[in-house]
Amino acid sequence: MTKKEDLLLKKEVLNGLTAPSFYLLDNLEIKNQTDSTNDDAKESLKKPHNKLSAHLAEQQNSGRGRNNRKWVSPFGQNIYLSLGWRSNLTFSNIEGLSLAVGVRVAESLEELINEKIKIKWPNDLLINEKKLGGILIETSSDEKGTLEIIIGIGINVFMKNKDTNEIDQSWTSLENYKKRTLDRNLIAAKILNNLLALTKDFKTTGFAGYIQAFENRNALENKECEVILDGKIISAGLVTGINNKGELLIKINNEIINLRYGEVSIREL
Ligand code: BTN
Repeated sequence: MTKKEDLLLKKEVLNGLTAPSFYLLDNLEIKNQTDSTNDDAKESLKKPHNKLSAHLAEQQNSGRGRNNRKWVSPFGQNIYLSLGWRSNLTFSNIEGLSLAVGVRVAESLEELINEKIKIKWPNDLLINEKKLGGILIETSSDEKGTLEIIIGIGINVFMKNKDTNEIDQSWTSLENYKKRTLDRNLIAAKILNNLLALTKDFKTTGFAGYIQAFENRNALENKECEVILDGKIISAGLVTGINNKGELLIKINNEIINLRYGEVSIREL
């Protein structure tokens, strides 16, 4: 049972923000229960004064992952965080954004644990090949053509096997690798500090500014992998790297092919 003092508290998250983050963030909301924090962030961007709006919840009733999968979201165990960002960037400006978010989130969490966090393209966060967290970015543009970007992040913090039998892949929680006692308020603040910094620097560097950091964490680098389209294996090859659009480069029959995320998925052989 989660103790009251271990619950998410707005005051505690705000305390962990740096001064620049505090001034950048227009709104922070924490709910006990919600359907999806991504929906909360989307709703909040309807208010004109909210350009950067952060949403946390203790539990999600309809948490969603990539590829229409469910994101298991039990009460008080994990981080379910979404940042709504109304931006004048274009769709092509944000190519690779979700990979850059993966890098920033991995950096935020690594300070707390004794293991390296790798990223399986495009943005699964892994420790020792087990899934620690994931990122779901949803975008739309409003009537003026302004981009609404919702960055949704789910991190397993304290979740144990007894809390769920619904996850169909190998997974882990931060708690298993912690250097010291973990505090979800502090974790949320650390992630927000890094994400808010990203909303500034991604505008100037784009994904090009993150390629090296991604490569250093690329779980698939030099791995033989299968390429999957609509659930079917369509080819296989050797992963050689990433380009500045966040496309995965894979050598198939001596030719380098660029894979776009959202179009295909990939599995290590
Ligand atoms: C993945 O499939 O790996 C992405 C998972 C993203 C889950 C997070 S939890 C916070 C936000 N709200 C959601 O409904 N999904 C994202």
